[in-house]
Amino acid sequence: NYNTRDPASNQLLEYSKKHQENDEIITTSSGIPVGMKTASETVGIKGPTLLQDWILIDELAHFSRERIPERVVHAKGAGAFGYFEVTHDITKYTAATVFSSIGKKTPIAVRFSQVAGEKGYPDTYRDLRGFAIKFYTEDGIWDLVGNNSPIFFVRDAIMFPSFIHVLKRNPITNIRPDYDAFWDFMSLRSETTHQVLMLFTDRGIPANYRKMHGYGTNTFSLVNAKGQFYYCKFHYLSDQGLAGLSQEDADKIAGVDPDYYVRDLYNAIHGGNFPSWTFYIQVMTPQQAETNPYDPFDDTKVWLHSDYPLIPVGRLVLNQNPTNYFADVEQISFNVANVIPGIDFSPDRMLQGRTFNYADTHRYRLGINYNQLAVNACPSMVHNFQRDGQSTIKSQGGAPNYYPNSFNGPENDPRARALYLSVPLSAHTQRVDNGLEDNFSQARLLWTKVLKEGERQRTIDNMVNWLKRTNSVIAERAIQNFDKVDPSLGERLRHRLQLQFHFNTQVQL
Ligand code: HEM
Repeated sequence: NYNTRDPASNQLLEYSKKHQENDEIITTSSGIPVGMKTASETVGIKGPTLLQDWILIDELAHFSRERIPERVVHAKGAGAFGYFEVTHDITKYTAATVFSSIGKKTPIAVRFSQVAGEKGYPDTYRDLRGFAIKFYTEDGIWDLVGNNSPIFFVRDAIMFPSFIHVLKRNPITNIRPDYDAFWDFMSLRSETTHQVLMLFTDRGIPANYRKMHGYGTNTFSLVNAKGQFYYCKFHYLSDQGLAGLSQEDADKIAGVDPDYYVRDLYNAIHGGNFPSWTFYIQVMTPQQAETNPYDPFDDTKVWLHSDYPLIPVGRLVLNQNPTNYFADVEQISFNVANVIPGIDFSPDRMLQGRTFNYADTHRYRLGINYNQLAVNACPSMVHNFQRDGQSTIKSQGGAPNYYPNSFNGPENDPRARALYLSVPLSAHTQRVDNGLEDNFSQARLLWTKVLKEGERQRTIDNMVNWLKRTNSVIAERAIQNFDKVDPSLGERLRHRLQLQFHFNTQVQL
């Protein structure tokens, strides 16, 4: 049945076809030939096993260390390799080498993921999807760690762990999601309204990873060769088109093929059907940022395309499957703090928190030298003063490990220095909860202007499906946020849930 099965199912058969004349022998992990792989070394046939049986111990010891901690979020995913090609000149906005000339190609690695499920979770569960890109540039690694949504649920990094906890398993029952926790948090923090609404539209369950868009989501800066800077958003829109699955189809697929998206990506690339995305930026000047009617550093909001049009930049193409999932995808580590000269951060509070968190989690998950793993290593040599640590792979050829020094060690780069973002800032330090800033106006635009009636109906069906599983007081509180989006949305939800308008006065939590 080779011809009737998909390439992902035939992976082993393909290996055996290519290796018909195979004369490789089995070895230990140190390359020592193994004469007998199916028996431990014992005292006689029935006697105990010997401690000197290194072939057995080598195998068992490696086996018990095969797993590393899974990502605390975005654990389930798929990856591929390809390139980014510049199609339009944006050098007036940025001096980043990756954009330096039309036609320039930069190798990339991409990892798609779900946010909240564990490593074995079904692909077609309702969730945001991750879409992270690693650019292997001549100026080092640029990681653009985006999602398939232009916005996010919360706007301050300090809210992120609580937000993730309500999507994850209840620590007592070990069941996810806990619908009470989900709607409790979402209703108490109304800045989530825009993203929650989007989650229940057709975007909440993409048809597959190829048919979804990607967004850097947070606001970044660009710096040009004259040292002028602009704020910027990154968008990468699917050339395959945007498509979603109905809840019914997604539920069926989850039971039949939990790795549906992983299989789709592998098969498409294997068959030469290379997925691609068109890459755009939106640009806002610092002056525009000062007078913009909504906060440009609030990641629960989009920058309206009518005010900040999409500027085409290039194309992402994925044309190569990983050769080993663990080495190439499980160990790939994206770090939001990896921006190359010409790209910089902004005051976006979520971005600020993210610049710390990613390297921190990689040190825990993969160890201090995660940047030396092949998939994470930058194409040019790393020259710094760090040495040693667990699993050191690379040496720096005898260069001094301190700075300054008198022995011709590496020096500062004036070009990188000229591109450092310099922003005048002066204010008192403080903690201001910005959770109540304009939480409904863009959700209203999404509901009234972007969604067509058919999709509105499906969005209501999907929301009711989750709302009906929570306590009715919490459901009513959640609906009150949707009243503020559009009274008809609240009414339709209430009608479907057959809740009374003042339900919360009659039922106690
Ligand atoms: C993965 C933290 C917000 C996109 C992760 C990981 C952590 C994390 C700890 C696991 C990384 C690993 O083990 O490899 C945070 C924090 C956030 C935040 C603290 C807010 C303060 C966001 C936002 C986006 C995003 C707003 C999208 C724009 C991703 C993606 C991954 C990820 C795509 C998976 C990367 C991969 O494929 O390896 N995040 N995150 N995160 N995050 Fe975030």
